[in-house]
Amino acid sequence: MATPPSTPPLPSAPIVLAGATGDLGFRIARELLKRGATVRALVRPGNSKPEVTELQDLGAEIATVDFNSVTALTKACAGAACVVSALSGLREVIVDTQKRLLDAAVAAGVPRFIPSDYCIDYTKLPAGSNRNLDLRREFNQRLDQAPIQATSILNGMFTDLLTGQAPVVLFGMKRVLYYGDADQPLDFTTTANTAEFTAAAALDPTTPRYLRVAGEVASIRGLQAAATAVTGTPFKLLRVGGLWVLGTMISVTKTIMPAPDEVFPPWQGMQYLHNMFTGLPKLTPLDNARYPEISWTSVREVLAARN
Ligand SMILES: NC(=O)c1ccc[n+]([C@@H]2O[C@H](COP(=O)([O-])OP(=O)(O)OC[C@H]3O[C@@H](n4cnc5c(N)ncnc54)[C@H](OP(=O)(O)O)[C@@H]3O)[C@@H](O)[C@H]2O)c1
Repeated sequence: MATPPSTPPLPSAPIVLAGATGDLGFRIARELLKRGATVRALVRPGNSKPEVTELQDLGAEIATVDFNSVTALTKACAGAACVVSALSGLREVIVDTQKRLLDAAVAAGVPRFIPSDYCIDYTKLPAGSNRNLDLRREFNQRLDQAPIQATSILNGMFTDLLTGQAPVVLFGMKRVLYYGDADQPLDFTTTANTAEFTAAAALDPTTPRYLRVAGEVASIRGLQAAATAVTGTPFKLLRVGGLWVLGTMISVTKTIMPAPDEVFPPWQGMQYLHNMFTGLPKLTPLDNARYPEISWTSVREVLAARN
């Protein structure tokens, strides 16, 4: 674990936040404001989501900006201490829009940039093994060449997905479904903890290029124990097959349901799990202790809080 830095003085310069109307971005804004930071939320023209008013009510400054214009983005980045992106999308967002945001941050003289990564450690995955992570790698290659201090936050899978989209803990069947090795360590961090950590990192001028966190490192057997403990009913393991079986299922799903314009089609979620089950993108070493005020939510707590 890295040595926690002494708490840096709060920058009076604003933190510019792109994607503040999204799930993670809104939470980052709230965490920044809780810490006394000035937040300038970049919002697309015509955005009528309730989050815009909520951000304003919380004390964020709303900057309505054309994300296609580097000039407009540069004006919106003026005087900022850090630009944080929590944008979500495919190439046009993760590569193209973030490039414009980066160019704007550099033109405005902003010293620091946090890209919208928030994922498993794609730096250890071969190119071509995960479409969404390839886009992040591509953007980060550009980021590495820019005259700005960059920090990527890598947090594994959002733990919240275990009670949502990720078909792993099957509460109805009392099974934990997996492929490959039930003892492979996997990284999970809640969206809330990721937001807290990102806010702390945005306010910390000494961050390194990568920060890796995991609210809990759990194997499939660990998930089985957690599900059994919170429900009081024994969960069994359901091994569908080796990783090659999941690989084949991904190819088939991609063929019959390609959904090329969806950010998270079913095959993308399966791909994410496949990557995790290989162990390649395991986060290490962990920087959880860098901001000791953060209390990490366990898998068990997330499973217990399911509806
Ligand atoms: N590790 C994990 O398990 C995990 C899980 C989920 C998400 N994530 C990551 O977390 C990050 C945030 O995801 P999220 O779920 O919070 O996303 P989200 O709720 O869909 O929010 C996306 C945000 O991006 C904005 N946006 C989208 N396209 C845009 C564009 N072309 N121009 C300007 N703004 C645009 C949206 O603005 P509007 O309000 O105008 O639409 C919104 O503020 C992403 O990097 C995502 O991959 C990680």
